[in-house]
Amino acid sequence: MSSRLVVISNRLADLNKPAAGGLAIALGGVLRSGGGVWLGWSGNIVPYQDENSVACTTVGNVDFLSIDLDEGEHQGYYKNYANGTLWPLLHQRVDIAVFDSSSEKIYRSVNKRFAHALLSVLREDDVIWIHDYHLIPLAEELRAAGVMNRIGFFLHTPLPPPATLSVLPNHEWLLSSLFACDLVGFQSNEDRVNFLSYVQIYFGDEAVDGSTVTRRRRTIVGSFPIGIDVDSFQAVAQSPAAQAMCAGMREEYSKRKLLIGVDRLDYSKGIPQRIRSFGAFLHSFREFRRSATLIQIASPSRDDINAYAEIQRELESLCGSINGDFGELDWMPIRYIHKTLNQDELAGLYQAAKVALVTPLRDGMNLVAKEFIAAQNPYKPGVLVLSKFAGAAEQMREALIVNPYDTESTVHAIHRALVMPLHERQERHRALLATIKRYDLHWWCKGFLHALTRPESKHDYSI
Ligand code: UDP
Ligand code: G6P
Repeated sequence: MSSRLVVISNRLADLNKPAAGGLAIALGGVLRSGGGVWLGWSGNIVPYQDENSVACTTVGNVDFLSIDLDEGEHQGYYKNYANGTLWPLLHQRVDIAVFDSSSEKIYRSVNKRFAHALLSVLREDDVIWIHDYHLIPLAEELRAAGVMNRIGFFLHTPLPPPATLSVLPNHEWLLSSLFACDLVGFQSNEDRVNFLSYVQIYFGDEAVDGSTVTRRRRTIVGSFPIGIDVDSFQAVAQSPAAQAMCAGMREEYSKRKLLIGVDRLDYSKGIPQRIRSFGAFLHSFREFRRSATLIQIASPSRDDINAYAEIQRELESLCGSINGDFGELDWMPIRYIHKTLNQDELAGLYQAAKVALVTPLRDGMNLVAKEFIAAQNPYKPGVLVLSKFAGAAEQMREALIVNPYDTESTVHAIHRALVMPLHERQERHRALLATIKRYDLHWWCKGFLHALTRPESKHDYSI
């Protein structure tokens, strides 16, 4: 009998509501196909209670275990330390990162709670797979409690260079807690190299040998770029709901060219820069006034954190001002939609669009880029404009790669995408589709678990 897979992440897929966020979408896909246990936060904030209760529900072949957080834990662990300190730091926004030791303490204690919750269900031969920046010290907590199982950790965000990491108070504590893992995985080779350089600088050259770090144990460090389930996303794109959405959009935009942006409303996604570039494009290329429309889906995210509330206000005013400057009675250049679409709706929207603007300032991978390619009709495909700062840019080389900080070159990429001849669109799409099919969600999951459970079989863990 093969081992049971136990996945732990802060965010669990919400089975009743559309979820936005690459982690929940990807892990939902992994567990639906292979089965296992998924432990995470229930999403509930409860009054302080002294009890470590774990709720369990089974859906198909997956056991969902969830814990509640109380107000103080939600504030200190999720809002402050994970999303107010680590998220901006990992995305190279130290200027907005907030550092305070009381939140760090709560982050540590919530990680301990996750460890205790796991201990209550753990079997000897379970394979443990921990996800993302909320749970960096979890493996260490598990080892301290005597857990001997194989433990892997995967970071969904980018990992910045050592100089940026060193800004974090107690960074040695946080990053060395990963030495409790058997395998640490990153989205890109750049992230992996950043981690290995960090270890060499702070823990000595002798700690690193090729792809392994030897401190408390032998830890393999690899890059495992996450993919999407191309087959199942293409099936979603053919569903009646997606087709109806696509037909509706095509009818409405029959005489216009539709560009789209689809993101969680997050400052790392470069949405204001994108909107400004689109405004500059309309300014320079007058012939596209009245004919090009950008639909920006901004799915609400972490809106009780200041930086998120601020970017929401900034975007509302930016879109308003571009619509005011360029809009006509029968045409609005930007439709800004502050809500979460479900996967059917998104798949329909992707198909109706001529161009997708995926222009984050920093992104671990960016699954939207891959979903857009999967949804295209190969005979009449749309064009992907992709930021060089998305992890996806390491793989998706046939996209139009842009620097989102450089407005002028983004304007030219938008223009080039809109006038690109059909044969070039087809060639680029063919190459991109082949890449996302080859490196899909199953490849990612199999590759990671193979390296975790049979570490001796592969020696080069860079991709
Ligand atoms: N997504 C969604 N509805 C929305 C916006 C996004 O379902 O309204 C999904 C999208 O399909 C993708 C994920 O959320 O699977 C976003 O993942 P990505 O890697 O692009 O960015 P993240 O949000 O993880 O930073
Ligand atoms: C990113 C992070 C995930 C997170 C998701 C949604 O994808 O890497 O860990 O789940 O954003 O953010 P949220 O704070 O709603 O979980």
